[in-house]
Amino acid sequence: MKTSISMIFLVLLLGGCSKQSAAEREALDKAKPGYQVARNFCSQCHTLPFADQHPPAAWPYVVSRMESYMEAAHRRMPNSSEREAIIGYFQSK
Ligand code: HEC
Repeated sequence: MKTSISMIFLVLLLGGCSKQSAAEREALDKAKPGYQVARNFCSQCHTLPFADQHPPAAWPYVVSRMESYMEAAHRRMPNSSEREAIIGYFQSK
């Protein structure tokens, strides 16, 4: 009996953790430094990607590839400090 009650709690607990709503996730992302800069530049062509789409080490390459698209499309390009802020935003959890 005791075991089944703890199992129920465990299931509720795990279920609760994975059910982070889109709104909660957005609020957390907005609180991270660099959000505004990343949003300004990265949503010129598509929605702002989620940071967990790539491992931290991959983001500088993704951003470089995107910069070549920005250049080709004559979009606004980040300067070096903006670029750092963008990469920092995607690399932070
Ligand atoms: C000039 C338009 C443009 C801008 C601005 C832009 N992107 Fe993209 N992005 C694209 C295109 C086109 C694709 C699809 C082709 C591809 O994946 O190379 C894409 C796809 C992506 C993908 C999905 C593919 C993958 O590698 O995971 C990610 C993530 C991404 N962009 C991140 C970013 C980030 C971060 C920024 C801001 C620094 C950004 N993009 C700004 C054009 C843009």
